[in-house]
Amino acid sequence: MPSNGKAAFVFASAAVISSVLMLLILAPVQQTQGYSNGAPTVSCGDMIPQHGVEAQFGPSPFLINLMDGEIVLMDNSVHLELRSSDPQIAFEGYFIMAFDKNDHSANPRPIGRFKQSANDVKVMDCPGGMQNAITHSTNVKKSSVTLEWFPPENYSGQVVFRTTFVKGKSTFWVKQESKSVSFVMETTSKGSPKAPMTGPNGSGSSSSSTVWAGLIAASLLAFLLVR
Ligand SMILES: *[C@@H]1O[C@H](CO)[C@@H](O)[C@H](O)[C@H]1NC(C)=O
Repeated sequence: MPSNGKAAFVFASAAVISSVLMLLILAPVQQTQGYSNGAPTVSCGDMIPQHGVEAQFGPSPFLINLMDGEIVLMDNSVHLELRSSDPQIAFEGYFIMAFDKNDHSANPRPIGRFKQSANDVKVMDCPGGMQNAITHSTNVKKSSVTLEWFPPENYSGQVVFRTTFVKGKSTFWVKQESKSVSFVMETTSKGSPKAPMTGPNGSGSSSSSTVWAGLIAASLLAFLLVR
C-alpha cells in the first residue's frame, strides 16, 4: 500500500508538472503573432508590439533620418526617413510618434499629426490627439519609408520622434529616439537658422566704433593744436 500510494503521488505530480510545462510551451506560441497590417492601438502607451516576445536590447540596425535638418521654421512640416543602415537588413513594421523633448511625464503625450500618404503607411489616433501616430499598412519588407509630420499650431520647442522597428515577429526594437528638431520663429533664409551675433559680424561692429572714436579724438586734437 505505501509503495502504491507513493507511485500514485509521483504519477500525479508528473502529470501536473507536464501540464504546466505544456501550458508554458503553448502559451507563447499562441501569442507570437505579428500585426501584418500595423500596430494595434493598445501599443500607443508603451510602443511595444503585442507579439508576446521580448524586445531587443542591442543597437538597432534601423535609423530615423531628419530630412529637413535639426532646425525647422514654426508651422513647417518635418520629413522623416525611416531606414536600414544595412542594405541586407529590411524591416517589416514600424510605429512612430512625436513627443516634446521636455515632456518627462510617465505617459508623455504624442503631439502633432502625420500625413496619410500613398505608400505603406497607416495613420492612427492615439490617446491625446488625432493622427498622432503612424504605422505600416503591410508587412512587406522595406529598407526605407518616408513620412511627413506637422507640428501643433504655433509650436516652438524641441521635438523627438520615437520609433519601434519590427524586423520580424520575434525581433523588434522599441522607442528608438531620433535627434531633436527645434522649431524656431524666424530664419535668415529658408532652412538656415538665424545665427547669433557673435564672431566676425559682432566684433566687426565694435572695431568700427573704435575707429570712429579714434577719428573723433584725432580731429579734436587737431582742432586744439591748430587753435
Ligand atoms: C497662433 O498664432 C496666431 C498669431 O499670433 C494667432 O492668431 C493664433 O490664434 C495662434 N493659434 C493658436 C492655436 O494658438
